[in-house]
Amino acid sequence: NSLEVSFDLTPTEAYTDEQNVPLATEEALANDQVPAREMVLPPADVAGTHGTDEATETNGNPQNSQQHQQQHDPEGNPTGGGQRVTPWEVEADEETGIDYDKLIIQFGCSKITEDHISRIERLTKQRAHRFLRRGLFFSHRDLDMLLNAYEQGEPFYLYTGRGPSSEALHLGHLVPFWFTKWLQDAFNVPLVIQLTDDEKFLFKENLTVEECKRLAYENAKDILAIGFDKDKTFIFSDLDYIQTMYPLVLQIQKKVTYNQSRGIFGFTESDNIGKSAFPAVQAAPAFPACFPAMFGNRKDIMCLIPQAIDQDPYFRMTRDVAPRLGFNKPALIHSRFVPALQGNQTKMAGSQVASSIFVTDTPKEIKTKINKYAFSGGRATVEEHRELGADLSVDVSYQYLTYLMEDDQELKRIGDDYAAGRLLTGEVKQKLVDVLQPIIKAHQDARAKITDEDVRSFMDPTRFEGKKLI
Ligand code: TYM
Ligand code: TRP
Repeated sequence: NSLEVSFDLTPTEAYTDEQNVPLATEEALANDQVPAREMVLPPADVAGTHGTDEATETNGNPQNSQQHQQQHDPEGNPTGGGQRVTPWEVEADEETGIDYDKLIIQFGCSKITEDHISRIERLTKQRAHRFLRRGLFFSHRDLDMLLNAYEQGEPFYLYTGRGPSSEALHLGHLVPFWFTKWLQDAFNVPLVIQLTDDEKFLFKENLTVEECKRLAYENAKDILAIGFDKDKTFIFSDLDYIQTMYPLVLQIQKKVTYNQSRGIFGFTESDNIGKSAFPAVQAAPAFPACFPAMFGNRKDIMCLIPQAIDQDPYFRMTRDVAPRLGFNKPALIHSRFVPALQGNQTKMAGSQVASSIFVTDTPKEIKTKINKYAFSGGRATVEEHRELGADLSVDVSYQYLTYLMEDDQELKRIGDDYAAGRLLTGEVKQKLVDVLQPIIKAHQDARAKITDEDVRSFMDPTRFEGKKLI
């Protein structure tokens, strides 16, 4: 499929660094300096979200889902096709979704190869997590360097985060956290988890500071329910912990110009000034000096940041300032997006209730949402489906199964049967419901056991004092 990706940055949008070197170039790619704005391309029409009430033997997709409206750029001008990936928006104009190979080239990051995977298996003496085996974590920056150092016995820590903008997490949010837990256990390393309640206050219209902080604590319970190692994990709200990080935040802010912040994140002159300054707060935890109780004054400890690839712009900026502050660049490992129920053109997002499976959904809600909304790669009639089979590349239920089903053989069997027309969409949806309901139930049970006292204790950095973490 041919995704037209346009690189036409106007000069005013082009990101220039302090020396006025235009960075949207090959050198820019090499230096991690590709502005998020460069990816700015037209929103796709995620058409009609109304399917049938129950899964039927036909696909149940909205009738004209193949037809997209005219594409527009951020200024409202019509453009050709394309894809758009920023920390705020993920949109592709093809039903197969984001072209991740193209995204790797656009962003200037690197593909995770079979070599990386077998190396991780050798180093951890474990079978790689299914997210790695199945290419869901697909891209990285400096993973080789990190693994080399680890092999030489040098320590690293993990850093990830969450912007607490809603009460409940959705399935897409769980992906980086599940994977982070696996990494923590496999490599036996410390982990810091940032809750950017400050970010959500600055970026969302109707949230008070108190509400953002409350959401951070609520979200912390969902995150801790994933089972992080208490002896090695620190979770913090920016509002609480900013004082300790502030010297780092300041050093970073001094190294990033307004032009850079605007070029990377697309801020405009009418955005509040807090937005331009915030990226330094997300950058800071990539440096061990933010965590004196955990790492003392060691500056050499490396950092690995698991994230979905929408967060990459923050860490491109972080990696750019690191050497100028005398710090190591953090290594990054990126996942694809869990698609919205309606299809691959957008990611699952909390703001669209009908596009997401939330960790608070009941078994009945899960079943209804999947039957009603999950975009089908099946054919319009049973006869056609038996003859042609399903298109797995656009089928949301099958893709969720690739994220969730542990058993490789069973997954392969479902894929083969569905692609050959032996399985119908309704049957595949039922399999997904059977897999997903117990996962969400187990999450809810684990969350119910997390007390306020647990949260307080995970958020208390002083408990690391005098303990050897690294
Ligand atoms: P937030 O809360 O928007 O998202 C939290 C994490 O979930 C990932 N994510 C997804 N992954 C797969 N499929 C999806 N549909 C999906 N939607 C979201 C995000 O990429 C992210 O990894 N500014 C950040 C918070 C943050 C952070 C960090 C994230 C602070 N420091 C360090 C990663 C690493 C935010 O608002 O994330
Ligand atoms: N659009 C994001 C969401 O709804 C929220 C958001 C605003 C955000 N500003 C951000 C996320 C900056 C990451 C970074 O989830």
